[in-house]
Amino acid sequence: AKSGYDHYMLKEIHEQPRALRKCLRGRVDELTGSVEVESLAGLDPESVQFVACGTSYHAALFGARLLRESGVHAQAFLASEYATAPPPISDGGLVVGVTQSGETADTLAALREARRRGVETLAMTNVVGSTAARECDRTLFIRAGPEIGVAATKTFSSQVVAANLLAGVVASGDDAREIVEALRDLPGQVQAILDDTRAAKVAETYVDSEGYFFVGRGHHYPVALEGALKMKEITYKHAEGFPAGELKHGPLALVTDETPVFAVVTGDGPEATKTVGNVKEVEARDAPVVAVTDGASDAGRFADAVLEIPETHPRVAPVLANVQLQLVAYHVAKRLGRSIDKPRNLAKSVTVE
Ligand code: F6R
Repeated sequence: AKSGYDHYMLKEIHEQPRALRKCLRGRVDELTGSVEVESLAGLDPESVQFVACGTSYHAALFGARLLRESGVHAQAFLASEYATAPPPISDGGLVVGVTQSGETADTLAALREARRRGVETLAMTNVVGSTAARECDRTLFIRAGPEIGVAATKTFSSQVVAANLLAGVVASGDDAREIVEALRDLPGQVQAILDDTRAAKVAETYVDSEGYFFVGRGHHYPVALEGALKMKEITYKHAEGFPAGELKHGPLALVTDETPVFAVVTGDGPEATKTVGNVKEVEARDAPVVAVTDGASDAGRFADAVLEIPETHPRVAPVLANVQLQLVAYHVAKRLGRSIDKPRNLAKSVTVE
């Protein structure tokens, strides 16, 4: 069943090009840049609240950011917090539950709270026929195929792509064509990263480190959180992800030559320049820096190692950066002999609040 791979996690990491193609099939028009998803027809929310847990919450943060960029009021909430203290929402609002399994109790509770208030709901899920899919007014299936490893990998990538589809439907902007083209090229670019051996080498170099930090800004902030979550889940080592700008507001005190810092930086705009500034602060503390970058900025110059990713649209780049971080976490866990597909204390689907 693992098709020659040592673990389901690695198999599922390698399934990403195919999963992403399936997520896009029949939903985008490259000529016009338009996105058409039947189940989202006529969707035009005044505001959007995303609710989710864990990895899906990171995809939700990304989704909210995309919508805000296009002028839609949007925020992401941890489902467990939302369910007990739901924030106000306007009449024409939409609550989007991002849940791979469609069975996460906290996310279902948040969605039910939204329904109780008469708000329209959308399930962004991998499982047709799941509770979330059945209970919500609308569905957006991410089509990643079954995920068996407890650590979410391909479903995160598919959620990020699905978030782009949702943004394309409710708030299509001037660069719609470029985004659709970038989405079309994404599966091939993911494949190029999978064929690259650098992440395995970085894992070998830093496997004995005390802990790991991950920083990113803007579109890459959720990637920093996700990189850290994956690392802690499957390696059992301390890992934390931050928005790059937060480092100096506390976490920097923990940064030493024993704690590699993974910095995700793409493009050469103001966000990249600021993150490179943060990288320099870290370098001055003698921490090893691993730059996950497309090479457009000079982040690589201040790094001890570089994990390269192809250039693409900023809304798509997080998928590529995250694939490199998935591979690093996997290879560190493998070297440590961890139970990668079934980490201790964790379950694939968390059905209690
Ligand atoms: C992390 C992971 C969890 C899930 C979370 C939500 O690798 O798998 O953090 O993302 O439990 O699960 P779903 O998406 O099924 O609601």
